[in-house]
Amino acid sequence: MRDDAVGEILVQPDELARRVRELGAQISEDYAGRDLLLICVLKGAMFFLADLMRRIDVPCEVDFMAVASYGSATDSSGVVRILKDLDAAIEGREVLIVEDIVDSGLTLHYLLRNLGARNPASMEVCALLTKPERRKVELEPRYVGFEIPNRFVIGYGLDHAERYRNLPFVAALNPAALTADKGD
Ligand code: PRP
Repeated sequence: MRDDAVGEILVQPDELARRVRELGAQISEDYAGRDLLLICVLKGAMFFLADLMRRIDVPCEVDFMAVASYGSATDSSGVVRILKDLDAAIEGREVLIVEDIVDSGLTLHYLLRNLGARNPASMEVCALLTKPERRKVELEPRYVGFEIPNRFVIGYGLDHAERYRNLPFVAALNPAALTADKGD
């Protein structure tokens, strides 16, 4: 895809594949003998989830949740709205929340509180990307793919205005593309 909005590539397809394989192996080891429920947070995490789940070799199921945070395109406010809830109860289940990115941490903070109140047997987080510099609440996922600098990223599920999720790598968004739609 030739597009001026696509800036520097931060994680190449082969690095993504290698790390997803490692995470799958680690999760399989940690959850050996347990029944795992993956919770995919739509939409961004769907590509990561699909690849990760195929690298997990313990029995596992998947459910989906969609949330939206109020705020601008680049800054979440911490107020989260559930757009789609899980299909099934998670009481007593071994839950692993799969996220594409932890930025301020506010979405995850909300999810941990909301899902924690449903009494799962255990609850951990696997995030492909994390931006520690941006954190507004104290939390660190148990499993992390890559720590990235404080840049707006697109690709491998991550969007800008719903585009670029289909890029096979993670790239920085060219800052000119962000200023171009100020006021949208
Ligand atoms: C992204 C991402 C996380 C959240 C992280 O979702 O998937 O859920 O933002 O930001 P935070 O740590 O600052 O709360 P987004 O709202 O962009 O939705 P999408 O996955 O559907 O693109």
